[in-house]
Formats: sequence, C-alpha cells, structure tokens
Amino acid sequence: MNSGTFKAIFEHAKEWTLEAGRQLRETLQDQIVVEYKTSAADLVTEKDKAIEQFFVERINEFYPKHFILGEEGIASGQEFQPEKETVWIIDPIDGTTNFVHQKKDFSISIGIFVKGTPMIGIIYDPIQDECFYAQKGEGAYHNGKKLPLLSETTVEESVLGINALWLTSNEIFDHARFQSLVRHARAVRSVGSAALELAYVACGRFDGSVSLRLSPWDYAGGVAILEEVGAKVTTIDNQPLSISAKRTTVFAASPKLHQEIMENFLLSSDIPKYSLKV
Ligand code: IPD
Ligand code: CA
Ligand code: CA
Ligand code: CA
Repeated sequence: MNSGTFKAIFEHAKEWTLEAGRQLRETLQDQIVVEYKTSAADLVTEKDKAIEQFFVERINEFYPKHFILGEEGIASGQEFQPEKETVWIIDPIDGTTNFVHQKKDFSISIGIFVKGTPMIGIIYDPIQDECFYAQKGEGAYHNGKKLPLLSETTVEESVLGINALWLTSNEIFDHARFQSLVRHARAVRSVGSAALELAYVACGRFDGSVSLRLSPWDYAGGVAILEEVGAKVTTIDNQPLSISAKRTTVFAASPKLHQEIMENFLLSSDIPKYSLKV
C-alpha cells in the first residue's frame, strides 16, 4: 500500500469515527433498546449495531477489498485472513455497560491492520470530545496535539488500569500476582472501556493497563496508538499479540515498567509480599 492510499484511509477512518461519535452524542437522550448477548453482564444496544453498520457501509463503498472484523458481526460472509489482508477492526461502542448506565466513559475504537501489523488506530470518546489517533511511523496524537514518547516510572509511583473483576479468583491467572501488583502500585483504576484505558496509557494518564480477556476489537486501535509513543504491548506472558486469537490477555506499559512488572510480578516465581496496616 503506498503512503498516499494509506493517508486517505486514515483520513476516512478518522472522519467516519468523529461522525459516528457526533451522532451518538446527539442522540444520547434517546430511549435505547438494550439486549443481553450471553448474560446480563454482556450488553448490546441498537446504537452498537448502527455504528458498526455505518462503518461497514462506508468501508464496502470505498474499500471493497478490505476485510472487516467488528464486534457485532455485521459484516458477515467474508473469508477472514487477518495475517494477510487489510483489516478494519471495529468496536462500535467500547464500554457498552458505561454507555447504558452512565452515558459516559465509552469510546469508538478503530484499528486498521495490514498483514497483521497495526497501521492506524483511532479511539474517540464522544462525550469528552477526545480523539486519540496514530498512523504507523507518523506519531500519535490527542485532539491534534502530538503525544510525547512515554516517560518511565516505577511500580510504586504508577497508576494502573486493571479491571476489578480480575482481582477475584479466575481460571486464567493466579490472582495472588495481581493482588501483589495492586498493593505495590500507587493506585489502580478501572475505566470500563479497555480502549480508553489504552488511550490513557498512551497520553500518560495511566502508566500501564492489564486486561485478562480482550478481543481484537477491544485493543486494536489502542495498540496502533501505543506503539507510536514507544509503549510495549504484549500478553501477560510477554508474548506478542495476534489478532487471529479470539481472546487474549493484554499488558501495555512503558518499556522499563513493563519489564519491571513482568519480572517482579507477572512472571516472577517469588511474588513480592506487602501487607496493609490498619
Ligand atoms: C468491554 C470493555 C471492558 C472490558 C471488557 C470488554 P464492550 O467491551 O472494554 O472495559 O473489561 O472485557 O468486553 O463489550 O463494552 O465493547
Ligand atoms: Ca460487548
Ligand atoms: Ca469492547
Ligand atoms: Ca463493544
């Protein structure tokens, strides 16, 4: 793909994301139809489906050869080859529960991968009107302002994004490691939109983000942005992410903090002890 085509794709993706976000913001007070997908903790609304449909129509019109991987599965019937093609990875509303309950702290996330490499990332919070975006090799931006490379910090001075659910016992990972990490960090936050958490790492509001079960649409936009600010993004086993995997763990931080957390907590055979005094 030449750089001119690539720039046109980026401009389209950003324009469509801002437009979808504007429509969502302007219809925020509408009565919304909420359905359960797999359980009462797994919601979808007609807005999620409408935004995905909006992207699918435009991508099919302008880029009919591109593949689409959207959370709500609106573009079906494609033979999906994520490692070979240009793929738009779409989360029409990341943080649907926040959208339904709080009407804030949700985002639209678009990641465009070419042959498995993140090339474009866009994460838009329509309520705060905050757009985070990046093109590979061109840097990452927050509402038009270039983001600097991440600065380093220590675990003790870090604010980490971790979904509170994963602090309970789970089958994916030894939660004692998380308890220790939480106790050593300065603070832990849970935004409820994985994409926004990754954007917050990219702009320095968070120092790291750990998630135990994300799908490609949750992190695709974030990875493209994070790479442009020098973050390290892997699984919690320090393996590269692959959009072919339906679900994966994701750990993003600046390189030294990533290494410190990997060595001392996530992969350590000797988890640091810490006790709270009351
Ligand atoms: C969810 C959010 C949430 C994360 C969940 C995701 P959705 O996405 O990103 O923060 O903890 O794992 O499924 O369903 O609201 O798009
Ligand atoms: Ca969902
Ligand atoms: Ca999501
Ligand atoms: Ca979603």
